[in-house]
Amino acid sequence: MNSFMAWIEKRLPLMDAMNKHAAQYPAPKNFNFWYVFGILASVILVNQIVTGIWLTMNYEPSGEGAFASIEYIMRDVDYGWLLRYMHSTGASAFFIVIYMHMFRGLMYGSYQKPRELLWIFGMFIFLVLMAEAFMGYLLPWGNMSYWGAQVIISLFGAIPIIGEELTIWIKGDYVISGATLNRFFALHVIALPLVLVVLVFLHILALHEVGSNNPEGTEIKKSKGSVPLEEQSKFKFHKQYTEKYDIVDAIPFHPYYTVKDLVAVVIFLIIFCWVMFFAPEGGGYFIEAPNFEPANGLKTPEHIVPVWYFGPFFTILRVIPDKLFGMIGMFAAIGMLFALPWFDRGIVKSLRFRSKAHFLNLTQFAISFIVLGILGTLPATDFLNMVGRIASLGYFGFFIALWFYSKNEKTKPVPERVSG
Ligand code: HEM
Repeated sequence: MNSFMAWIEKRLPLMDAMNKHAAQYPAPKNFNFWYVFGILASVILVNQIVTGIWLTMNYEPSGEGAFASIEYIMRDVDYGWLLRYMHSTGASAFFIVIYMHMFRGLMYGSYQKPRELLWIFGMFIFLVLMAEAFMGYLLPWGNMSYWGAQVIISLFGAIPIIGEELTIWIKGDYVISGATLNRFFALHVIALPLVLVVLVFLHILALHEVGSNNPEGTEIKKSKGSVPLEEQSKFKFHKQYTEKYDIVDAIPFHPYYTVKDLVAVVIFLIIFCWVMFFAPEGGGYFIEAPNFEPANGLKTPEHIVPVWYFGPFFTILRVIPDKLFGMIGMFAAIGMLFALPWFDRGIVKSLRFRSKAHFLNLTQFAISFIVLGILGTLPATDFLNMVGRIASLGYFGFFIALWFYSKNEKTKPVPERVSG
């Protein structure tokens, strides 16, 4: 067996890659709770792909058959209900985990130099994930699937000159129909997951090139020759890391973080299973009530609201009175996140050593985001629209304020080495 493995290794250095990217990856020794969400996102990604493949075996992507095939999966297919709930609960869990993962990046400045590209890949993942969820939501062909898609696709009609043509092109028909369902199905099960997996691969490669940040925002790689041998990490790391750098305050990913992450995965799975078995509709937030009725172009649900995870962006769209500007606002909200590494002109990364102003700004951003999210799930009223406008100002204000104060920010001294 050993000589067989050696034969393979000579031709395809798999063990070498495993050592480099997993077992012997030098990870800062002070990772905390916030660092488990990347692994959790990977676990959910696998869950979505695997359960998705099995659902596809019994799902029928047609206007006539889609709704009934979901009922069939739920009632007649062996463990079909389990597969469906794993997939639908997985969608919401994905966004909870991703929002936590992104917030960690904001707190510890993980988007700052030299991790800008890593952040950009992350943002592309986020964008594709939203498209993936949006298209997946049409597939059960429930009434909220239909009208949710109707509202979002019709937005493109507000684009001058090409708008109307564009909506027809997206739908593949004059109305949302089986043709729309078919193309969304193709994109949801093949194209977007493929893009997602490639992007995650690049995300990890980019991370391992520059190395992980940590809750203190210190760099654990120092230029070669600058750290006395006795101060370097006592562990031996893969040559790729040690050839270029002196590594301090790092521990190998395995067994230290494999074990720590395993604890997080088990706790996550307990919570996940509880939701899946006892509250799979998530109180109407994970699967909305109108989706228990088949799509009906003649019967609009009382309140058309998207699934909770689109809430913040949907509210920004809705509180801007003009349709075109609303759409621009919504896309700008995502665009601002893309450009975050350039809005932040500071050099101190972690919130722990940044100014009070930054702490307050990030806190108000998080509150604004949550308020926008809650509003996105409620029917619009004049009062709530007003609240939504204030929260939108908070959202955009975060980036603008950051750009101004980050240049000459009063920060605390950052320890040279990881301190705890
Ligand atoms: C399918 C989705 C995603 C997966 C599977 C994923 C996976 C990972 C993993 C495994 C890590 C290393 C462990 C950790 O630091 O938590 C990581 C780090 C990171 N991710 Fe993601 N990620 C995803 C989406 C995103 C998104 C949407 C963003 C932000 C826009 C993002 C930004 C980052 C950053 C900045 C780091 C480095 C953090 C640091 O070192 O402090 N990721 N990701």
